[in-house]
This record gives sequence, C-alpha cells and structure tokens, in this order.
Amino acid sequence: MLFVVSPAKNIYKCFGCGAAGDSIKFLMEHEGINYPEALRFLAEKYRIEIIEDLSDYDQEESKLRQSEKDSVFIVMKYAAQFFQDNLLQSKEGKSVGLSYIKHRGFNDKTIQDFQLGYASDSFNHFTETALEAGYQAEILESAGLVRSKDGNNPYDFFRARLMFPINNLSGKVVAFGGRILSNNTKQAKYINTPETPIYTKGNLLYGIYQAKDAIRKQDACYLVEGYTDVLALYQAGITNVVASSGTALTKEQVKLISRFTRNIILIYDGDQAGINAALRGVDIMLEQDMKVEVILLPNGADPDSFVSENSIDETLEYFQNNKKDFIFFKADVLLKGTQDDPVRKSQAVKDIVDSIALINDQILRAFYTRECSKIVDLSEDILITEVNKAIIKSHQQKARSGSPVTGYQERNPGVTNIEPEKQVGVEGVRKKSVYAQEKGVLRVMLIYGDKQVDDSMTAMDFILSQINGIEFEHPVYNKLLKAIIQALNDNVDFEQIQDENYYEDEEIKKLIIDIKMSPYELSPNWEKFHNIIIKDPEKTWEDDIFSTVNRYILHRIKGRLVEIDKKIKALSPDQFDECIKLMEEKVLLQNPKIDIAKKFGTIIL
Ligand code: CTP
Ligand code: MN
Repeated sequence: MLFVVSPAKNIYKCFGCGAAGDSIKFLMEHEGINYPEALRFLAEKYRIEIIEDLSDYDQEESKLRQSEKDSVFIVMKYAAQFFQDNLLQSKEGKSVGLSYIKHRGFNDKTIQDFQLGYASDSFNHFTETALEAGYQAEILESAGLVRSKDGNNPYDFFRARLMFPINNLSGKVVAFGGRILSNNTKQAKYINTPETPIYTKGNLLYGIYQAKDAIRKQDACYLVEGYTDVLALYQAGITNVVASSGTALTKEQVKLISRFTRNIILIYDGDQAGINAALRGVDIMLEQDMKVEVILLPNGADPDSFVSENSIDETLEYFQNNKKDFIFFKADVLLKGTQDDPVRKSQAVKDIVDSIALINDQILRAFYTRECSKIVDLSEDILITEVNKAIIKSHQQKARSGSPVTGYQERNPGVTNIEPEKQVGVEGVRKKSVYAQEKGVLRVMLIYGDKQVDDSMTAMDFILSQINGIEFEHPVYNKLLKAIIQALNDNVDFEQIQDENYYEDEEIKKLIIDIKMSPYELSPNWEKFHNIIIKDPEKTWEDDIFSTVNRYILHRIKGRLVEIDKKIKALSPDQFDECIKLMEEKVLLQNPKIDIAKKFGTIIL
C-alpha cells in the first residue's frame, strides 16, 4: 500500500510516485482532469450547486469545452455497449466477429473483461443507430466514431472490425482500436481512434485499467506490443500486462506504469525487428527510475502465439529463464561481433554508458557499472569515469533546462573489504557497501578509540554514542562490536581491546588483523568530486572519525528508508495507524539524511 490518506487533514500522499495534495489535486491526477473539472466532478457527486461566473469569455469557452468532453465520454460509453451487443447478439456479429474471437481462443470472460465488440460490415450501421437514439452527429464526429464530408452523409469510422475499447484509469472508454477480419491487405490491420477531446495518443496504455491492481500486487508490469497479446496473457493468468499498441513508448506511458510499479518487463519477438523495438524507448524508462528487463521470444513468436502453443507453466518457466536485465541485454546486442572492430566497440561502450548514466539510483548505477565493466572487458575505473562524464554532460544539459541534478558515482569507499558472502544483484551491492561502512566504524574505534575528543569524552565514547545501540549487519563485525562493548564494560585497557590476542574468537582475531593491516585509502574520486583536501589521516583523526561514522549513519538511514517504503507497500488498507507511524519515521529520517549529506557535499535525490 503506497497510498496514504489523512481524512482529518484532508491530504493524501503517494509513496510510489511522490504525488501529494488535497482531495481536488487527487481527482485532477487520478482522472487526468483540470481544476474546474475536478470541482465540477465533486459538486456533482455531492449535489452541490456551483454558480459559475461566466462573465469571462475564457470561462465561457472552458465550459463549452467541458460539456463537449462530457458528451464525448457519454457517446463512447454508448458506442462500447453498441459494439459489444452487436458482437454478442447480432447475426453478423456472432457469425463473423464472435467466431473469429473464439477461433483465436479467447473466452467469454476475456470478452467481458475487455468489453470486446464488433463493428458491422456496413456504411453506417452505428451512425444510424446512434442518431436514432438521439446522439448528435457533431459529438459522434468529435468522438472519432463518425466521419462526414462537411456534415453530410455521416458514415461509420470503424467498419467490419473487431473492436478493442481503450479505457482510462477509471475504466471509462476513451478510444477504440479496430482489427480487420478479412484478409484484405489493402486496408490497415488496425485502425485507432484519432485524437479527440478525451483521448491523446500516447497518454494511455491498452489494458492498464484491467491490469493496474495486479501490477501493484506483483510489483511488476509486462509490456507487450499488441492488443491480442494483452488478451492472451491476461487470459492465461498473467494479468499484469499492458500494451503500447504499436506506437513508440512515451514518457506519459512510463509515468503511468510508475504509479504502480518500478519494474517493467518487455516481451518482444526475438527477430531483429523485436530486438530493435526493445532497444528503443528504454532510455525513457531508465530515466524515470524504472528497472527494465527484457524477454525475447523465439523468432517469429508474439506473446499471444507463445501462450497458445505453451502451457502457462511452460510460459512462466520460459519467462523466468530468458528474462534479462535491460542493460545486459543492450550490452550483449551491441557488443555482438565487435571484438575485432575497436571503433564499433567503443561506440557500443559509449552507448551502454549513456544508458547507465540515465539511472538515478546510485547503488543500482554502481552495480551496472561494475557488471558491465566485466562484459565490455574494461576496468571498472575507466567505466566509472565514462559514466560520470556522461552524467556531467546530461547535468549541463539539464542545468540549462532548469531540471534538478543528481549525484555522481563514487569509487569504492575508503576502506578495504573482506569478502562478504557471495551476494549477487542489487541487494548484494547494498550489503557489500554496508559492510564496508561497518568495517570503517570498527577501524576508527580500534585506531583512535583512546584519543580524547574533549575533556570528558574519548573517541570511543563519541563513536558509541553516535551509533547508539545499533547492531551491525555483518555477523563477524557485529561480534567484534559486541566484544568491544563488553570489554569496555569490564574496564579492559584500550591496548588490550586493540590487541587481537585478547579475543578468543578466531574470526574476531582475523578481523582485527585485517583491519590493522589495511592501509587507509581515500579514493581519488572523493577528492575530485567533493573538493576535500586529503591530509595525512594521522593528523586528521577527528575528520576521519567524523566522516566514517557519518557515512555509516547516512547509509543506515538510507537502508531504513528503503525498508520503510517496503513496509508501507506491504500494509493492507486497514492498517492506517501503522502507515502513519511509518510515514512519520520517514519524515524524521529525512532531515539528518540531508544534514549529513550536505556536510559531505554529496548531492542526493
Ligand atoms: N498496430 C496498429 N496499426 C497497424 C498495425 C499494428 O496500431 N496497422 C498496433 C496494434 O496495437 C497492434 C500492435 O500494433 O496490436 C501490434 O501489431 P501486430 O503484431 O501486427 O498485431 P497483433 O497485435 O499481433 O494482432 P494479431 O495477433 O491479431 O495479428
Ligand atoms: Mn499477434
């Protein structure tokens, strides 16, 4: 549950997309309407009369526009019903439309859930019926359902076609796609509603209304190309699926998905056209912090044909085995055949780097940079430099356009690692980084612990007061932390605490030796990007303690924030109090996070 409403304060907040506001703002966002439209919506719902000041010409016009929109919605609703009745009840609909749908393997539930319909093979079957029912020709035309030459001889836009209504988020029909049923190759296989007062091409996704709950629940969204692909996956039980419907993916469409999940899985035909399609449009997704994966189907297959030829278990197994992280997919595709062609290879690397640079999440970006350095066979440092260059370039572009700027990538933190468990993926990267921070804290404890910070406080006291009861995630590091605290409680001398021989535990002994041996290194990047002049650490022990402990705390806070978001997401709608508590903790954590980040000059989101 990402969405919190406080009735007392009349505000809402969505942790998924960050949207927040009052009830009117909510309606505007949810229904995609403007302020006056939202007011009218509420007024109508609660039967409040609004007296509009129509003295202003603009308002007069806006009212006209509004009533036109309302009328178009009504006409579209009527049309969807008409086409469906025509499919299920008319002789032609049953014999041509319904038999085709059944032949394609779609069942009654799918027909109902997507309100499939049929437009007769007739010049004006729909137009005539709608006019007789009292709908105005003008409105039918602005809805894109009827065409005419200057208002004369109005005729049906959709003829002899299977009808796919396109719903907005609240389920209202705003457009149609119509598929031809004959083998007439002179006509387009699909035609779609043109732009109308209520429909802008590229703002919606086919199936989003039916899929949105499943997308949220599964925290993932399959993105396919066609109407029938959506139907086929949906019917097979994979209901978190939407289609871009033949057009290149737009920013608005990605935003729409990002309201329900950050995870997009593209499914494309494995042929060259499919691969190209998969490569297109993805930058928009990366830019908006989406995690993108790609599944290529066997050559010549689309999701519809694939699920009809395989069982659902086989399908899911195929998906599982062939799912590839987009960045790696892109790297594979671009690097293919470039081994002996340094020019093409460097172009490919540049291309990959540009995609990585679009990712805002630093941990994720670091992960991709490292993994790609292996794939492209270049050192991680070189790749980091390239990624940072690309980020700087895009910053400069963004700065010109006034957009906010996000942080650079850091090289490895200034402490060495003993290998954490072999972790893979993003969680592995996070863990490794947390472990490095924890080890850093132990290092400053053991090196500077007995120095006096002021008259009453040793460095050890100071560090312990800062980390205050926290457990380390790394089991061995935590063991050492506990042992140090125990020793302090037992009034053991600091020299003893520093001495590995004091401890009986073999792992602790090894760790202390490791800490003593590791030279304290600051990365060159750290200096470059943060303008910190690196001094001799022995003379700047206070800075060393301060920065090490604060970096650790910052990390903990970031981790906790992620955890809170996960928890909020997992709450059921009735756990309102729990949700408020978590939100409050989140707000409390934001300030120290920003404070600490500021001290480091790190630019954070
Ligand atoms: N499309 C379109 N106009 C066309 C062709 C295609 O708008 N002239 C869009 C449709 O949304 C279509 C999608 O592109 O669903 C994918 O096209 P295609 O793969 O040709 O069709 P399918 O969806 O696979 O339809 P079918 O299986 O019925 O052939
Ligand atoms: Mn198909």
